[in-house]
Parts: sequence; structure tokens; C-alpha cells
Amino acid sequence: MIPRYIVDFRMDELPTVETDVIVIGAGIAGLYTAIQSSKNNRVLMITKKSLFDSNTRYAQGGIAAVISDDDSPEFHRQDTLIAGVGLCDPEAVDVLVHEGPNGVQELIDLGTIFDEEDGHLALTKEGAHSQRRILHANGDATGYEIVRALAMKAKEMPEIELWEDHFVLDLLTDNGECRGALVQKADGSRVVVRGKAVVLCSGGTGQLYRYTTNPDVATGDGIAMAYRAGAVIRDMEFIQFHPTSLCYPGAPRFLVSEAVRGEGAYLRNIRGERFMEKYHPQLELAPRDVVARAIVSEMEETNSTFVYIDITHETPELIKHRFPTIYETCLSYGLDMTTDWIPVAPAAHYTMGGVRTDLHGETNIKRLFACGEVSSTGVHGANRLASNSLSEALVFGRRIVDRINQLPEADNKPLPDNDGRRNLPPMGTFIERRLKLQKVMVRYVGLRRNAKGLAKGLEELKRQLPIFQSALLRREELEFANLLTCAILTTSAAISREESRGAHYREDFPNRDDAHWQKHTILERDKAISEEVLGNV
Ligand code: SIN
Repeated sequence: MIPRYIVDFRMDELPTVETDVIVIGAGIAGLYTAIQSSKNNRVLMITKKSLFDSNTRYAQGGIAAVISDDDSPEFHRQDTLIAGVGLCDPEAVDVLVHEGPNGVQELIDLGTIFDEEDGHLALTKEGAHSQRRILHANGDATGYEIVRALAMKAKEMPEIELWEDHFVLDLLTDNGECRGALVQKADGSRVVVRGKAVVLCSGGTGQLYRYTTNPDVATGDGIAMAYRAGAVIRDMEFIQFHPTSLCYPGAPRFLVSEAVRGEGAYLRNIRGERFMEKYHPQLELAPRDVVARAIVSEMEETNSTFVYIDITHETPELIKHRFPTIYETCLSYGLDMTTDWIPVAPAAHYTMGGVRTDLHGETNIKRLFACGEVSSTGVHGANRLASNSLSEALVFGRRIVDRINQLPEADNKPLPDNDGRRNLPPMGTFIERRLKLQKVMVRYVGLRRNAKGLAKGLEELKRQLPIFQSALLRREELEFANLLTCAILTTSAAISREESRGAHYREDFPNRDDAHWQKHTILERDKAISEEVLGNV
């Protein structure tokens, strides 16, 4: 059904470029891993757009790490485990909470400037955190500042070669090892890149949904190519919906950071009533899945497509100082956060599952690593604790680099061809296909799911599978094939998990069922979906 390779190729017709480490993706995971591994290796960093086109660049709230004397790794660990609803790998969480502060220090050493208050790093709070432990930059432009600093550093490193506007088509494997990748240049010509390690840092799958906080590059390419290559894909049913994205005619689904609620904002339904007390004792700072579903319930009850976030009780100075980007963006649509309630609704935000790794970021395919949102390290479980993902990328990036530095050189045996007969270009417009897929996902595989809808969704998605028989060439065609793969994986995993847990809510199985489902869902090409007990990597 889903073929091993997305295109046909013959090795003897393709030029080959040799390097040591191939990094695919340019968010925090890609930039950090490239910078650190370039101290001992030649690095080729490949991104399908530019250094400033990644999810990281849009991160607002910040990066979670134990910095304050009032906080401790144990508090951070507990908050992460509670948010993950029994599906986190405790060892992976230990790595995060103990190594996170060092990762933040490294970011500072690499030039990132975080906000300070009274001479100390400023810390805010977000949903389900028991302490103030979220660092931020320029108020609400944390991701942009991190990308700015890391991109500047990466450009200075002589051992990093950067290929922008290059699309990685597939991973090249032989005998259970990853040997490199097949890459398409902007002009459509192709090249083989070979090295001793490949690190997938290609982000998540936000574009599976019509309403998402993610940029248009978030098409799950890394998860899809890893699946085609035989990597284990884990827990794809867990898609996090951010409760509060701007929902206003003509405006994009711009993120209204959880930090706005962390600084005291209220949620109100369109009747003006605060409602979170009906749903959770932590009110507006309840775990994300709870807040997102509460909002949808209120929208249904009041027959509306949005609720409001209200921070008008704070001073205009505080609002403009802490949230300059959100303030300016809302203002550009005629909404003044200092005086107006802002209309918001949930939108797809983060892929908790992905390519399964061990505690050193290595996948079941030797020499293939995964870092950041593309990976499933075990940190997030069924529901990611806000702002844990930037720290996760740093601590696992560091471990990946350590592991790569110990790897022996790869041999340069010839790699197999994929000498197929796909000659005909695909039919139809891919913008429409993507939109249709996104609508199917919103309708059947969204915040609330049930067996009937999921089966219907899967059936509709599978109707698109014949595109794999065409000669795919343009970026939108390739991205669609990857999105389709991830959509099928997400829907299949959601069908399989007959319980509700974290971000996965089944109307027909509304309760958590530890007796049967305290385990991961596993997807592997050419194998039936299976389950895996926790910690068994
Ligand atoms: C936010 O600012 O609300 C996003 C933080 C996150 O998703 O980690």
C-alpha cells in the first residue's frame, strides 16, 4: 500500500555527496544538533525551505527547565508524568528534567538572550506546571530568538554546509542500517547524500488539520520517510490541540500562548461566563487536553465557533511588555488585548508520537536518529506538558551527538536501486487534496473521536493511496504523500486505542483503561498494528 520509496531511482544515474552527519530539518533540534556535531564532524544540514521556516520559530511561551531555587527536578518530573497520563517513559523524563537546565545554559552560551527580571532569568507558568519554570525571550517570541541565535552560530561554523530549498525524498538503508538520503534540489534534480549518521529533525504533523498553529512546512515528512524505511512509529494517535488559537474572520490560526493564561487570563464563553470551574480544579491552567475539550463543549452549548480569552484586567503595560507579538498581531485585526476579549478556539499544535527512539535518540534502524517533534523519546506520553519540547530537543540532541561521536565510519558499499516504472504524473490539484485530507482529519480524527467516524475517515484517506503509483515530483505532491501516510498512521492508531487518555478522546470509550491500554501503539511498515508495554524500546 505505502511503498518503500516515494520515487523511483537508479543509483548509477545519481551524483553522490559524502559527509559525516546528515541533519534533516532546521528547527531547534536540527540547528542545535548540527552545531554540536560539527565540532567533530562534517555536517550537511538540509531544509526544504529556509532556516526561518520551522515550528520552533513560532514558539511563544518558552522553554521549560528547572532554574528557580523554589523548583526541583522532582517537581518537574511529577508535572510531566501527570500530564503524560501514564504513558511517559520515566527514564526519558529523568533525562529531560535533570539535563534540561544544562541545555538552557548551552543555548545561552550559543547566544540566546532570554528575558530577565531583577537581574535573574524571568520565569513564567503554563498549564499543568506546579512552578514557574518557563523561560521566554522578547516576551512571547522565544522561538524566534532561539532560531536567530542558533542560525547565526550555524552559519559561522565552517564544518556545517547548509542546503536550503532541498527536499529529502527518502532515507537510504541497507541491512538494517541507514546509509544516507535521497534529496531533490529546487530544480527537480536529485542527489544521493551519504554519511555515518542521519538525524531526523523534521518536525511534526500539524498540517494534517485544517486548523493548526503550525506553519505550512509541518507535513510529517520525517515520520513518513522513517516509516517507509522500516522505523518503528509510536503513539501517533496523540495529537495535542492547543486550546487557544486566534479565531477571527480573515486571521490565521495564530497562537495565543498559554503563558497568557499563565499570567492570569480568563476563558469566557460567548455569554461572558467563565466556565473552567465546571471542568477542572486548575481552572484555566488545567492540562491542555482538558481545556481544549472544555472549550469545545462550551462552543457547542452556546452554539458558537469560539470562546474568548480575557486579560483586560491586567495593566496595558504588562500586556504589551509580556506579549508584544500577540498584542500586535491581534491589533492588526482590530482586536486590542488591553480592552477586548479575544476570540479563540482549539487548533492542532503538537505531535506527541513519532519515530521511536532510545535514550540516545537512536531508532531501531542503526545510524538513524530522531530529535525533536519527529521523535517519540518517551518524554511526552499521552499529553505533552507545555514548553517541554524545546528542552527535549536540546537534551536528546546532546545525547545524539555523543553517540554519533562514538560511531565507526560507515562503509561505502553500493546502495540498492528502486528501479520502478512510475512514469505518469499524478492527476488533480494537490492544494485541493490537502484541504480534503485536512477536513477529513478535523471531522473524524479531531479532538473527539469514535469508532464509526474513525473508520469512515480511514476509508476516505485510503481512497487517496493510488497517488503512490504516480511519478511524484513537485513539493506539494511529495508533501501530500507524506501527509497521507501520517494521516493513515494517526487514524489507524486512534482506531486501535479503545480508551480515552490524554489527547486521545474516544466518545465510545470515554474512560481511561489502564488494565488494557497502559501501553504504546506501534506501527511498522508491512506489519499489523501492535502494542508495546512501557519502557520496552
Ligand atoms: C504556548 O506558548 O502556549 C505554546 C507552548 C508550547 O506549546 O509548548
